[in-house]
Amino acid sequence: TGLKEAYRDRFLIGAAINTSIASGKHPDITEIIQRDFSSVTPENSMKWGSVRAADGGWKWEEADHFMNFAAQHNLHAVGHTLAWHGQTPDSVFKNAKGDYIKPAELTKKMEEHITTIVGRYKGKLHAWDAVNEAVGDDNQMRKSHYFNILGEQFIDKAFHLAHEVDPKAHLMYNDYNIERGGKREACAELLKRLKKRGVPVQGIGIQAHVAVDGPSISDIEKSIVAYADLGLRVHFTELDVDVLPQVWNLPVAEISTRFEYKPERDPFKSGLTKEANDKLSSRYEELFKLFIKHKDKIDRVTLWGVSDDASWLNDFPIRGRTAYPLLFDRKRQPKDAYRRVLAL
Ligand code: G3I
Repeated sequence: TGLKEAYRDRFLIGAAINTSIASGKHPDITEIIQRDFSSVTPENSMKWGSVRAADGGWKWEEADHFMNFAAQHNLHAVGHTLAWHGQTPDSVFKNAKGDYIKPAELTKKMEEHITTIVGRYKGKLHAWDAVNEAVGDDNQMRKSHYFNILGEQFIDKAFHLAHEVDPKAHLMYNDYNIERGGKREACAELLKRLKKRGVPVQGIGIQAHVAVDGPSISDIEKSIVAYADLGLRVHFTELDVDVLPQVWNLPVAEISTRFEYKPERDPFKSGLTKEANDKLSSRYEELFKLFIKHKDKIDRVTLWGVSDDASWLNDFPIRGRTAYPLLFDRKRQPKDAYRRVLAL
């Protein structure tokens, strides 16, 4: 038996799946998912840029594949995401002259977008990352197009719309770096304001793109407790562990300009060293020990991918780097980290 069975009485174990996995093109990965995972999230296929055509029309093929895959394998399905500045074309927010559209116009677009997609999958998607990454790297509200046009109210709007259409769906606020001090406090303050205004937010999605050397377990634990104290269910939504030392405490823009990929500088181009692999395994073990300790507060732990070959980190922060952040290797074999997590 696999992780699914081992964690049955603790929390759901999820994986983000890309479009080719969702359309059943990788029988070996399908087999892993059947054995090890109880939940799935679409890595890209429900984002605005994936479901909408340039003229605003709808493209359902990839999202439908994801839903069919989830249904076929009896998986808890999480939608990702309804309002996010990423992978959303500028034309959503700006007119032909390049000026921002009026608040009422953006509100109308959000209404159409959210009610359509939430309505289409009502009763089949169990949860939504309703709003994604609204707090910036400076711990202030991110000056995204959504925010610049509608202010913080864009968040309220997204949650209310989704809740009206599918009152049973569990709605989460999802963000990165919020498992560490600084952004944690900013995010907790935002959630307090949302709750005070009666916004139907039920869960916090801690993405948890972490590294082998941080953030510390005590920092992550503080975050679990802080969000649970606000009355929120805790979800780890995008877990992966970078074998390179922490870079996330730099602003993202700086990361991508500072690191230029040179194969000869990639320390793990031809495989992980034993030392690095051991570090990865111990890190996964300590993380899952912490999650188990707080299983009463945690609903789900989702990994951002199944096997290393398909991880987004292969392109981040340096395009083309070789990354090893997941539980299955490039040949889709379980890693030592997998066995350690399974044995807990
Ligand atoms: O679909 C096109 C394809 O047609 C084209 O040939 C190819 C060439 O580059 O690009 C494809 O699109 C890429 C897409 O992933 C699908 O593979 C985009 O360039 C690429 O930018 C996109 O990256 C995704 C990223 O979000 C975008 O911001 C990653 O796969 C996805 O893992 C990542 O996920 C995010 C979460 O949604 C939010 N939290 C952070 C997380 C990691 O960045």
